[in-house]
Amino acid sequence: MMSCLQSWPEPVVRVQHLSDSGIRVIPERYVKKLSDRPSFCDSLSGEVNIPVIDMKGLYSDDASVRKKTAGMISGACREWGFFQVVNHGVRQEVMGRAREAWREFFKLQLEEKQKYANSPSTYEGYGSRLGVEKGISLDWSDYFFLNYLPLALRDQNKWPALPLSCREMVGEYCREVVELGGRLMKILSSNLGLEEEYLQEAFGGEEFGACMRVNYYPKCPQPDLTLGLSPHSDPGGMTLLFPDENVSGLQVRRGEKWITVDPVPNAFIVNIGDQLEVLSNGNYKSVEHRVIVNSEKERVSIALFYNPRGDMLIKPADELVTEDRPPLYPPTVYDEYRLYMRTRGPRGKSQVHSLKSLQ
Ligand code: OGA
Ligand code: NI
Repeated sequence: MMSCLQSWPEPVVRVQHLSDSGIRVIPERYVKKLSDRPSFCDSLSGEVNIPVIDMKGLYSDDASVRKKTAGMISGACREWGFFQVVNHGVRQEVMGRAREAWREFFKLQLEEKQKYANSPSTYEGYGSRLGVEKGISLDWSDYFFLNYLPLALRDQNKWPALPLSCREMVGEYCREVVELGGRLMKILSSNLGLEEEYLQEAFGGEEFGACMRVNYYPKCPQPDLTLGLSPHSDPGGMTLLFPDENVSGLQVRRGEKWITVDPVPNAFIVNIGDQLEVLSNGNYKSVEHRVIVNSEKERVSIALFYNPRGDMLIKPADELVTEDRPPLYPPTVYDEYRLYMRTRGPRGKSQVHSLKSLQ
């Protein structure tokens, strides 16, 4: 595997503490160029939104309801790359307690959080930037990143010891969300006309990867000039996001416009990552998204990334390659693929496009 830098190229500034310091003007490093600012192109909200799917329908006694629900998921993966799920089986109290634990974590004194300060070699821990190039534009957020699976990568000593419930909550939350991810993987497989286990096997079977990134978006005195997270597609397999119900912020690209997702209470926002776009030979879309911030409220979101094991070679499924539809992407080892974002930071869909140009 290619190696990554062992340390950040410049001192790390915690955005939360910049925000708490009461500044009225944000530092230059966070100011986006005009065309990247939130108001540059129209954003849509209200009238159109990503599909909301009731997963109860997948287990209905009525075959037509099962078919319709699977069909809605299929359509969402192909056209939107994003959907929300309700009645997903993850217990509401587990979701609520996990969010509470993370809110408490970010409220801790800076010195306590600094014990978990991360480095670009693994990204595990408390972080405030993506990408190691000196001088790159920075986003208005801090985060906590940890590995849950495979077990060989799980190190609970790197998870927050405070609040006291945090480690236990993270374990419980991840177990339930990973189980939901596994169920979705089967449906996503069948919807491509593949064996139910195909995608899971391609991710490494029982040895797949799962990691968590908790995003903390502090209040921002000049929200029109910056972004909480710049446009990117998720490099992994599938993302299950528990957004902040009190504050919206996630925007999904739809053509030239950005759609602000209106979170449904207790729902997960599911999106296709680059590896599922590749495995499905472009039938499923890994769609660009970004996060906007505001001056009134902080926002906490919990993303669970359901990924291939690091050493898996990911390529379009043979069954989805035909004379009319040649393989759109070359085989790539997942660990190598994800280094791109880890070194350069979020850059839209440029990595997927560069894969295509290798063909
Ligand atoms: C991510 C992401 C969106 C959000 O963590 O990759 O896109 O709403 N998060 O925080
Ligand atoms: Ni993302």
